[in-house]
Amino acid sequence: MSMRAYQLEGFDSRPRIVDVPRPTPGEGEVLVQVRASSVNPLDANIAGGRARRYKQYVFPAILGTDFAGVVAETGPGVTGLSPGDRVFGLVHGNIVRTGSFAEFLAVPQDQLAAVPATVDDPTAGVLGLAGVTAACCLDAVRVGEGDTLLVVGGSGGVGSFATQFAAAQGVQVIATARPGPEEDHVRKMGAAETVDWAAEDVALTVRGRHPDGVTAVIDLIDRDPAAFTPLVVGTLAPGGRAASTLRAADPQAMQGIPAVNVRPEVNARVLHRLAELAEHSLQDSPATAAYDFDRIDAAFEALAAGAVGKLALRISSASSWARSPSAASGSR
Ligand SMILES: NC(=O)c1ccc[n+]([C@@H]2O[C@H](COP(=O)([O-])OP(=O)(O)OC[C@H]3O[C@@H](n4cnc5c(N)ncnc54)[C@H](OP(=O)(O)O)[C@@H]3O)[C@@H](O)[C@H]2O)c1
Repeated sequence: MSMRAYQLEGFDSRPRIVDVPRPTPGEGEVLVQVRASSVNPLDANIAGGRARRYKQYVFPAILGTDFAGVVAETGPGVTGLSPGDRVFGLVHGNIVRTGSFAEFLAVPQDQLAAVPATVDDPTAGVLGLAGVTAACCLDAVRVGEGDTLLVVGGSGGVGSFATQFAAAQGVQVIATARPGPEEDHVRKMGAAETVDWAAEDVALTVRGRHPDGVTAVIDLIDRDPAAFTPLVVGTLAPGGRAASTLRAADPQAMQGIPAVNVRPEVNARVLHRLAELAEHSLQDSPATAAYDFDRIDAAFEALAAGAVGKLALRISSASSWARSPSAASGSR
């Protein structure tokens, strides 16, 4: 049997949707019929071949990281899952060979978890990488009720999840966002304050509003310690903690401030915890638009042009898509 998949044949070509054989689940693997996915900056780097610096490609390679769908079949040794169960997760590892931009995906059982009944397909489909990264960032800065958290890059995918998860714990979140759709979005995600990153010096504005400093900083934008260090030093209160998703935390430069380079951990325990966070902490889906699988190139173009929140992909039509007002309203 065949299926449609978004496949990259080599570094000198662009990925495209082709018919390929449907995979068979091996030992410990689950065959998932993929309903929803999303595009991440990582997927864009992989599709453009830029990820070859840190990932090994095996061609032809099916692309895609995030997925949500239903169990179609279980391989030998898989326990606790049955055909029809709703699951989500992310394809993880250093080898680019098989991914979630496909109608079916064979994935190790420890790379997925059950979707809570209250979470619809488009939300579950955008949860994987951005949600795990947000949860790992929050673990790194250890915020709790009454704390103040600055999220630089708050208007994007990771920022949307970090803001919602933190706000649900009683954290006062300051998210960077330009006025208009970005600001509207981060407020919807639960941000108590916003800073216009394009018009203001973020550190100066935050310090002006919070003279004693904030409890924690999550920086999803700066790649260079020369930008990360003054931001953190300029905004954090004594005893505060910081995290970077872009390896910008240089312990030598941090003047004793605890700062962590977050590298998301992916396993069944982390995904189960993410499912719980999604069930109890998500008031609204971070998905602001949904693209049909045939329009995946348009989703990548929108991501490159500067998208707000998460961009969902509708891999196969399913009734639960209708349950998401935010993603349905942005349907493309
Ligand atoms: N370490 C890891 O394993 C890991 C995992 C996940 C993500 N990441 C990285 O973390 C970063 C964030 O990921 P994401 O999925 O959230 O990306 P995203 O969805 O593209 O979000 C980035 C957001 O930041 C905004 N922005 C751009 N420049 C900014 C600036 N100077 N100050 C404040 N905000 C700015 C963008 O606005 P515009 O769209 O208007 O430009 C966009 O809304 C990416 O670089 C990604 O590669 C790393």
